Amino acid sequence: MDRELALEFVRVTEAAAIASGRWMGRGDKIAADQAAVDAMRSTFDTVNISGTVVIGEGEMDEAPMLYIGEKVGAGGLEVDIAVDPLEGTNLVAKGLPGSIAVLAIAPKLLHAPDMYMEKICVGPKAAGKIDINAPVKQNLKAVASGLDRKIEDLVVVILDRPRHEKMIQEVREAGARIRLITDGDVSPAISAAVEGTGIHMLIGTGGAPEGVITAAALKCLGGDMQAKLFPENDAEVERARQMGVHDINKVLTIDDLVQGDDVMFAATAITESDLLRGVKYFGGGARTHSIVMRYKTGTVRFVDAIHAFDRKKLYTKQC
Ligand code: FBP
Repeated sequence: MDRELALEFVRVTEAAAIASGRWMGRGDKIAADQAAVDAMRSTFDTVNISGTVVIGEGEMDEAPMLYIGEKVGAGGLEVDIAVDPLEGTNLVAKGLPGSIAVLAIAPKLLHAPDMYMEKICVGPKAAGKIDINAPVKQNLKAVASGLDRKIEDLVVVILDRPRHEKMIQEVREAGARIRLITDGDVSPAISAAVEGTGIHMLIGTGGAPEGVITAAALKCLGGDMQAKLFPENDAEVERARQMGVHDINKVLTIDDLVQGDDVMFAATAITESDLLRGVKYFGGGARTHSIVMRYKTGTVRFVDAIHAFDRKKLYTKQC
């Protein structure tokens, strides 16, 4: 993939974030999502790729845009694309931190069905040390030793769900600190691989599509992830099989989730997070904060952008 594409991809997530951010705190997650989808879809048409959406807004009959199998781009290299125009719909609707517009591109991504996935996500210093089948305490010890600190000095992010009660108890007993989140596990998982965010690990069960997107980011950052699909019924097992996952109990490594070297990832914050600043609007423009990464070169860019809607007005305002 051309390195210039990185900037094109970030334009796509910026457009989605700017459109969706208008809905912050307005209590309408459907409208916030629709705004992100519309903006992302139309901006994709300007990018020089021949992309196939493998993780998107749903099946063709349930999503008018960015559905699984949809072709996007103005033509060029053939790639798999995973998109989540608004990751954390409730977060935007309530004005809470952690929502992002995000996409990942790779030669081959796991075609993850819309079901749950168990995940363990860590940064580069704990890469190769995690085991999703091991007790929580063993993984905490591994991450702590990788970071050369005590378990007590770790912050672990977990979705605040009844299904995680036992896991939360185990983390507490081991002595680590916890940040419980209401939604949106992609942004904190990425933060676990970025020094200075104060987050060291994400564990628990969340969406499988979000898991693949997370894996692309962690791969670019040199972090690590293990995952296991978590079907809730036979229909989901069958769905996974149809999408190419034959061993439902398989431990999926980061390279199973995201194959190949030509991986790119872009995300723009909609609301604030540890990693990125949320969209700000002012007379005549908006300011966005994004991360865009390329696995091949290891480049990680934070893009702080000012977008002019009305240049005359913009130049007289403070950004
Ligand atoms: P949205 O689809 O509303 O954006 O929610 C995303 C999310 O919070 C993910 O970040 C997370 O993996 C998953 O949903 C958790 O699912 P559930 O809310 O069913 O526990």
